[in-house]
Amino acid sequence: MCGIIGYVGNRKASTILLKGLKNLEYRGYDSAGIAIKHTAGHTQVKKSAGKLEEIGQSFNSESIEGNIGIAHTRWATHGAVTDENAHPHTDCEGKIAIVHNGIIDNYKELKGRLISKGHSFTSDTDSEVIAHLIEENLGYGFEDACMKAFSSLEGSYAILALKEDEDKIVGVRKDSPLVLGVAEHGIFLASDIPSFLEWTNKVMYLSNYDFIIAEKGGIKVYNEGKEVLRQIDTIGWNIEEAKKGEFKHFMMKEMSEQAETVMRALLQDENIVRDIVDEINNALGVFFVGCGSSYHACLAGSYLFSRIAKVHVNSVLASEFENYEHFLTDRTLAFAVSQSGETADVLFAVRGAKSKGSKVVGITNVLGSSLTMEGHALIMMNSGPEICVLSTKTYTSQVVLMTMLAYAVAGKYEEGLKKIGSLYLDIYNLTSRTMRDSLAKLAEILRDKWDIYLIGRGLQYTTALEAALKIKEVSYIHAEAFAGGELKHGPLALIEDGTPCIVFVSAENKSKILSNAEEVKSRGGYIIGVSSEQDDLFDFWIKVPEAEELNPIIQIIPMQVLAYELAVLRGLDPDKPRNLAKSVTVI
Ligand code: M6R
Repeated sequence: MCGIIGYVGNRKASTILLKGLKNLEYRGYDSAGIAIKHTAGHTQVKKSAGKLEEIGQSFNSESIEGNIGIAHTRWATHGAVTDENAHPHTDCEGKIAIVHNGIIDNYKELKGRLISKGHSFTSDTDSEVIAHLIEENLGYGFEDACMKAFSSLEGSYAILALKEDEDKIVGVRKDSPLVLGVAEHGIFLASDIPSFLEWTNKVMYLSNYDFIIAEKGGIKVYNEGKEVLRQIDTIGWNIEEAKKGEFKHFMMKEMSEQAETVMRALLQDENIVRDIVDEINNALGVFFVGCGSSYHACLAGSYLFSRIAKVHVNSVLASEFENYEHFLTDRTLAFAVSQSGETADVLFAVRGAKSKGSKVVGITNVLGSSLTMEGHALIMMNSGPEICVLSTKTYTSQVVLMTMLAYAVAGKYEEGLKKIGSLYLDIYNLTSRTMRDSLAKLAEILRDKWDIYLIGRGLQYTTALEAALKIKEVSYIHAEAFAGGELKHGPLALIEDGTPCIVFVSAENKSKILSNAEEVKSRGGYIIGVSSEQDDLFDFWIKVPEAEELNPIIQIIPMQVLAYELAVLRGLDPDKPRNLAKSVTVI
């Protein structure tokens, strides 16, 4: 769960790589480093623990001359957050440098073998073995040494390697993302497209086990020992989408884009939607599988399918999906929902389903991600790059897709498109300055609270879950959601004088959820109503339009803004919450 980038071309590699790393930092920000094949003929490595903005200057990268380099930003898995464990890692002689994203499962065994052959290690990481393995095989030449080294690895990996006397970068991908960017002045190899979007929008997607040699003169890709041709696509994303622009944080920018991204999620190929509807209708068992926010979208999806299409769908956390494998057959249809398309638990679930002959539909936002290659069918979310670690616009897009599919299964595809399409202005207003100011006032009231509780019924319960996740991950305030009806079965014991409780109201369940709110209020709770109508019970009112089955698209937006305002007030960086990373590529 790290970000890697390499560049080989005519320009100064260090300058390009540091910019690229900045774009990749959302993938991990424990440490960063670069390695350049210096024009003086040696490999120069600069690395350090800490966020790039704190350590980037100390790299003094401008002084490193060279047009070939690799770089890394880390989310620690093996080994503490230290300078030594930062990437790039080198061989014993410091001639070879590598960066790695993924996990090497058999690193202990490999390390033991390498140590017995005289290699000395300087870090506690699983990744360092890669540099030493290449060194061990150098007798075959650099490219073959890399190929041999990579073939002894077990686990997941995207790796870039360079050597002081070779004018190339050698790379490989297996179950970790790696895409190529082709610019006029050089070639990029990176974990994602936005990292090099400033220089090119021409991309080459790679398959598992692709082995890449990138030189100034061109790219060669091999798979199973044979050279293969991979197409170069021009993608529609532009650099503005991947930049903060006038916004202080990506989170605010991305939340503000939702009026547009919700509409873009609707832009699907109707034939693909109809094929998927047929698959749903013919399936004996449908599962929606995801993690975190994507799971909440799945849960909302299962309620929506029940309500709109009268079809039963199971929503399952990807990490728990193996418990359902006994029920999977070749008539099962599994939807794998993941904005990044790289979440390890989701990919594991996909492979589990496929091994039982089940069909898999991927729903993702990232072009070229593993999920785009693993499913039988694919729906793209079309949200544009989401850089903030929190899912905001991708969450609403997922819910939109679930709603649209439910309508399509009900035979009301056009009606669904029209209804969702009519939300544009409402969504736009929910991130307006007036709304933000009001939520900033609420954030002032909540900023020093230890706990916030959230309740909802039906679809509003799924929104409460997602809202709680948003608040806790970005403000570090404990936030917990309950189904309104569950309150009296235990959680009421938590309510004391001034305990904040956010209540999601819909026209349909108004009286029941307000009576739950009353239970909280009578025990001293501070009631924040998310509702189309004011109520005497509310100590604070967040006005939202009533959108019935579309409430999950609407009601979450002020909650995202509230979470953001809380983080800012508490002096936290909303784009990079502690201990988290954008794509979770470890189980
Ligand atoms: O990329 P995915 O949608 O598969 O990611 C799943 C979760 O890791 C993700 O939603 C996570 O919970 C976010 N931090 C939520 O804001």
